[in-house]
Amino acid sequence: MISLVDLTTQYHSIKKEIDAAVLSTLESGHFILGPQVTKFEESIATYLGVNHAIGLASGTDALVLALRALNIGAGDEVIIPAYTFFATAGTVMSVGAKPVFVDVEPQSYQMDVNRIAAMITSKTKAIIPVHLYGHPAEMNPILEIARIHNLKVIEDNAQGFGAEYLGKKTGSLGDIGCLSFFPTKNLGAFGDAGMVLTNDPALAERMRMLRTHGWKKKYYSEEVGYNSRLDALQAAILQAKFAHVDSWNEKRRELAHRYSEHLAPLGVVVPVERDWGKHVYHLYIIRSKRRDELQAFLKQKGIASEVYYPLPPHLSVPCRAFGYKEGDFPHAELAARETLALPLYPELTLSQQDEVIAAVRAFVG
Ligand SMILES: Cc1ncc(COP(=O)(O)O)c(C=O)c1O
Repeated sequence: MISLVDLTTQYHSIKKEIDAAVLSTLESGHFILGPQVTKFEESIATYLGVNHAIGLASGTDALVLALRALNIGAGDEVIIPAYTFFATAGTVMSVGAKPVFVDVEPQSYQMDVNRIAAMITSKTKAIIPVHLYGHPAEMNPILEIARIHNLKVIEDNAQGFGAEYLGKKTGSLGDIGCLSFFPTKNLGAFGDAGMVLTNDPALAERMRMLRTHGWKKKYYSEEVGYNSRLDALQAAILQAKFAHVDSWNEKRRELAHRYSEHLAPLGVVVPVERDWGKHVYHLYIIRSKRRDELQAFLKQKGIASEVYYPLPPHLSVPCRAFGYKEGDFPHAELAARETLALPLYPELTLSQQDEVIAAVRAFVG
């Protein structure tokens, strides 16, 4: 059986480092925030080139705190891509705002920057580009539109840790960047974890308050916040894994390019890499008109694959309230019917990859 990701093999490859990090945290007796979390926040801030990195309980919370810190709420609109994980839309709704979708560009699956301006109204407050699958969104036109219309930019960088746009790390380009350290992410914890990034000291202070009940001073809430703190065990594990993330991302890129070299000549639609960016292949996505048949065929051969995502957020139950319907965003809807993620993780062996390639070849004939 070839799985989509294999976290156990990764753990065994760095077991000593992880075990030492866990044990020393257990010995420290410090479990919520504290020095381990601060150290990890500093590592990430330096790596991404931002002034402030604030560890949180999840990537979903990162989006919520970013929206709250920018005072986005009832009556406001936020522009997001029509093809993304539900959390991008769900968090906008959770603060009371309306998600306004923009279709994606069909080759890169990134927000189509040419469709953004038409969606801006007097209620628009922010744009959330998503660096989907680990490929950077086209940031300069997005930042320019935001500047002209006085909008904020929140980067959903849950899938793009280490990706670059014109040489700069994604997550560092907007007003606020959001990270997820969900276990399967390119840098993943052993549980839920997330982070917000910003260069703005006032936004940083606000998000630090929001992560602990709106406290500036302990027990003195100044607004309604959350309990959304990164815990020390996850920070220690993430710090140990962080030392490997660049080499893991390189490995992902090598394996992705090898997939494409073998699959493109078979007529399979393989991922593109735009010249503005460095793709870190959180997921390796192919497309097929016979996607479901292909997935069943691979399963029969003992090869896992996954559909990210079968339902574009505008067609989800919570979005019905806004009147979105089938046909509104054709590229997103077609992607939902045709895309398939193949097994990809740094520890995937070449012989395992050859097996996947052979199975796809057998399917396409
Ligand atoms: C694009 C995107 N946004 C947001 C999230 C939410 O992150 P988390 O699962 O850490 O809450 C995820 C990941 O799951 C994601 O892929």
